[in-house]
Amino acid sequence: MLAYRRYQPEECDFVPVAAADEVPPGERLFVTVGDLDIVVFNIAGQFFAIEDRCTHDDGPIGEGDLEDYTIVCPRHGARFDVRTGEVLAPPAPVPVPAFPVRVQDGQVQVGIPRRP
Ligand code: FES
Repeated sequence: MLAYRRYQPEECDFVPVAAADEVPPGERLFVTVGDLDIVVFNIAGQFFAIEDRCTHDDGPIGEGDLEDYTIVCPRHGARFDVRTGEVLAPPAPVPVPAFPVRVQDGQVQVGIPRRP
């Protein structure tokens, strides 16, 4: 079980998930890496990634409305900051995992935490 927190690049292995030009600004991409469902956002040219699972009731959050850097869970309205995973509004009790993202060689790469 992963802890709910923002992961640092040095504790991750980066996995390519898409060509950067497949996810233009304003778009989002749903990917599965191992047993993680992840949503990647391109917000004004910057990429962010969070787990696509609300901490309130395990609902998918990636399809929710995006307001600046805030994703609104479509089920019960919890809000999270996609940059950090931080909870901004209940009913979610804890943050969602936020993964580092980099663009290298034209590819979007998501940092997946190494497991012991
Ligand atoms: S499942 Fe997201 S707020 Fe309830």
